[in-house]
Order: sequence, then structure tokens, then C-alpha cells
Amino acid sequence: MRLSVIGCGYLGAVHAAAMASIGHDVVGIDVDPRKIESLSRGEAPFYEPELQELLAAGIESGRLRFTTDVAAASGSSVHFIGVGTPQQKDGYAADLTYVNAAVDALLPYLRPGDIVAGKSTVPVGTAAELAPRIEATGATLVWNPEFLREGWAVQDTIDPDRLVVGVPGGDAGTEAADLLREVYHPAVAKGTPFIVTDWATAELVKVAANAFLATKISFINAMAEIAEVTGADVTQLADAIGHDVRIGRRFLGAGIGFGGGCLPKDIRAFSARAEELGRGESVAFLREVDAINLRRRERAVDLVIDALGGSVFKKNVTVLGAAFKPYSDDIRDSPALDVAVRLHGLGAWVTITDPAAIENAQRLHPQLNYVADRDEALRAADAIVLVTEWDEYRRELTPEHASTLTTGRVVVDGRNGWDAAAWRAAGWSYYGMGRP
Ligand code: UDX
Repeated sequence: MRLSVIGCGYLGAVHAAAMASIGHDVVGIDVDPRKIESLSRGEAPFYEPELQELLAAGIESGRLRFTTDVAAASGSSVHFIGVGTPQQKDGYAADLTYVNAAVDALLPYLRPGDIVAGKSTVPVGTAAELAPRIEATGATLVWNPEFLREGWAVQDTIDPDRLVVGVPGGDAGTEAADLLREVYHPAVAKGTPFIVTDWATAELVKVAANAFLATKISFINAMAEIAEVTGADVTQLADAIGHDVRIGRRFLGAGIGFGGGCLPKDIRAFSARAEELGRGESVAFLREVDAINLRRRERAVDLVIDALGGSVFKKNVTVLGAAFKPYSDDIRDSPALDVAVRLHGLGAWVTITDPAAIENAQRLHPQLNYVADRDEALRAADAIVLVTEWDEYRRELTPEHASTLTTGRVVVDGRNGWDAAAWRAAGWSYYGMGRP
């Protein structure tokens, strides 16, 4: 099938490359010429495992191209909208400027029978608002939310755990639903659940999923707060409750909390939308989820202060990680970077390292000292703070090796990623999050 993908960020670029890899003829469209140049050369403009190879293969095959010219969408049967919906500058609601602009730009090129498939995460009700403009061209609007995780985006796109398509009226037998089945043919053939809903349900599925995940993380972080005043160990608690299959161990990692381009802004946009709908109280708990999450960054900073005897002023603190999570160079709302910046603000000499995110972090916070090499960054540190659990920190850095580099023997484990006993046995003072 001929497909167009409008918006080539983390979502759109991966979607375009993945669709080409399963045999479609795809054009990716974005207003940013730098992004398009890079993608056209087969180079991923951001760090995402497997994307580079997929792009190169797609371009080589002739089935994948990128352009800034939206006229290139003409002739495609399905047009995916994958532009960003960031938090508004003056509030919690989602900023729909880019979604509206993408739809308006696309309108002149739509033909009767075309499908416009919204993938961006939007407030419930957006599809109903966009539909009249699209339907006036004879095209059909569907909402097809994306559940990809950064770092696993290629795999999540090609082999998702479910496909959700919101169609007008929610009728599973419509032509639009069939076309989407054809788009995702390998996953559908494999038996991946393909759930056809109405627009509102599809829009809500996405925000509900992210709200649930954020709540799960903040739940365990709330338990960490209780553990901190009782001497309990939240990691053991998570293991123990996680054995209950109704609860499950995943997303019960207590630490400095969630960040990134999705969870924080999605729960805020959800609250804002619920309030607009007169149902603010239904998701009032999301304010608490947000508040708990933000408190954990402060807690990590307090731990470093305590660990260094009451002040970080003029202390060398090495922060391991800048990205909001491993296998990503994304620093949007990164708790890791936030902790580093706060320590710097308190007068610490902060050295920060990350395998992928240094360039992005440096652009946003040039005041910090960035060192690419992990061991170089650890040299002469008074304290080490683990904030992004990349393998080269969490798995590969041993206390014995760290001892050959640092001046101090203090670690603050903001991700509860290390074996506390092993660090203590090697002579270190170990501080975890919600652990004695
Ligand atoms: C998330 C959703 O998982 C994905 O389905 C959706 O499409 C987009 O938002 P992503 O933002 O890539 O994906 O990251 P995710 O892996 O969900 O992690 C989010 C944050 O939560 C990270 O900062 C991570 O470090 C943190 N986290 C995750 C925890 O603090 N504890 C955990 O147990 C798990």
C-alpha cells in the first residue's frame, strides 16, 4: 500500500521505517528540513536501537523516502498523523497546534476513500472535532493510537501487543477497519489483538494506558516514602507483591520516577481534559501521581546531601545518566537531568555522563560538566549518583572498579539498580530509594 506519515519525530520516523520494512511504499513528511535531510541519508536524527538499519534498508529498497513537501502525500491510501502534542506553555492541556496544522496541510491532497489515521496522543474528543474538515474531502478519519516505548520502538511498532483503531461509529465491519488490517498485515496474521472502537474510546485507551503506568510507578514510589520512615525495603516489597499475577512486578521499579515525552505530559493533559468535561474529580488522583513523582527527585538530592555530610557545596558529584531512561537519548522531562541540575544549583561540581544523551543535555544545560567516558567521569568523585540505569552503569560498573577511580566511597542509587550488599561489602556507603 502507499502510505504517508506526517511528522517524523520519535513516533513518525519509526512508523515510516517500520511500515516500509513490512512491504509498504512510504513517504515520511516533516516541516523540519534538517530532520528530513538526515532521514533521507538513512541516518536516524535521534538514538533508537535498530532504527538506523531499518531506515537504510527502507531507502535502499526504494520503498521509503522523506520530504518536507506535503504534496508528496497525494496518492497514498492511508495518511498517518504522528506529530507532537506537547504540554501547553501556560497550562496542563495538550497543545494541538501541530495536529491542526498537519491536518490543514494535508486537506488539499486527500481523495475520496483515503484514510487519515491519527496516531498522536490527543485529548478525548479531538477526532470528533477534526472529522468534519477531513470528511468534507470524502476521506475517513480513524484514530490509531501508538503504544511504542522509546528504546523498543521498532519492535513495538512491527510487533505490537495490541492494535487499536477508532472508526466513525465504532463499527468493526467498516472498510476503514479493513484497510488498517491490511496496513498491519503481519501482526494481524499473527493473531495480534485488533480492537475496533469508536473515536473516543481509541483516544482514551492511550491516555488510560499511560495514566495506569504512571500510577503504578507512583504507587511504588509512595511505598518507598513509607519504607523510608519505617526501615522497610521497597525493592523486596515490590518483589513480594509482584508475584501476585493480578499486580505483576513490571513498572514497580521505585526510584527517581518517570519522565520523558509521554507519561508526565499525558497525565497532565488527561487531568486538564477531564476538568473541561466536568469530570476533574474522576482523575484527581493523577495530581497525586504527579506530585509523588516529582518528590522523588527532591528525595534523591536530599540523599546526596545527607550522604556527603549535610552539604554538596564544592563536592565532586558524578551523575551517571542524563536520558529519562536507558536506550534513549531523550531528555524531555528527564528526572536524571533534573537531579543533576538541582545538585549543580546547590553548589556541587557536577560531572555528568551518558552513552547517548550528552549532546541533547548539553544544549539544554550547558552549565554542567559533560564527560563522555564513564571512567573519566568517575575520576576524583566524592559521590556517585545513578539516575539512568544503562547497562554500562548498572550491570557493568562494579564497586571494586569504581574504587580505583573515585576519591569518595559514597553511592546514591536513584534507580535501585545496584546490589546494596555488594557495594557495602566493598567499603562503600550505599544509599537507595526506599531502602534502608
Ligand atoms: C511510555 C509508555 O510505556 C508507552 O507505552 C507509550 O506509548 C509512551 O510512554 P516511554 O515514555 O518510552 O513509554 O517510557 P517507559 O518505558 O514507559 O518509561 C517511562 C518512565 O518511567 C521512565 O522515566 C522510566 O525510567 C520510568 N520508570 C519505568 C520507573 O521509574 N519505574 C518503572 O518501574 C518503570
